[in-house]
Amino acid sequence: MSTQLMQSQSLIIVILMIIGIVVHRRRSLHVKIMSFVIAWDIILILQVELGRKAILKASNAINNPAILNIHVSIAVSTVVLYFIMICLGRKVLAGQTHLLPRHRKFGYLTLVMRILTFVTSFWAVVPREVV
Ligand code: HEM
Repeated sequence: MSTQLMQSQSLIIVILMIIGIVVHRRRSLHVKIMSFVIAWDIILILQVELGRKAILKASNAINNPAILNIHVSIAVSTVVLYFIMICLGRKVLAGQTHLLPRHRKFGYLTLVMRILTFVTSFWAVVPREVV
């Protein structure tokens, strides 16, 4: 799969996450959108992983592995945050509303990390002809 197709999916995921946050007061819609976003993002990571050899061949990453490492570290942290968000969200749904402020803090952190994953993907996969 092409880098552009993956980055387009990544952009849609970021936009959907922002929409999910905006509608958080409509709980069931928030939960549906966020669950969809998390599932899609994990599928996207699997696609990237499967196409990794192709990406490395066509990209700047081979010249500058540090950039790829930074990108991958941010992406992995985002996935860890997804699991924290699911745990906190389920507890809030189960009535532990005192966890809502923590869910909100981690929620904004997750959004920032997801945006950074998107931005750093452009450094990591600049086509070699361009550099
Ligand atoms: C990346 C994933 C997620 C992000 C970024 C996120 C972010 C947020 C934010 C910013 C709020 C507003 C909190 C406030 O203003 O007090 C919120 C509320 C909430 N979230 Fe999430 N969330 C995510 C995933 C989930 C999941 C997976 C669940 C459920 C399993 C969930 C359940 C809830 C609930 C129940 C609320 C309270 C809604 C309300 O009554 O206002 N969230 N979330």
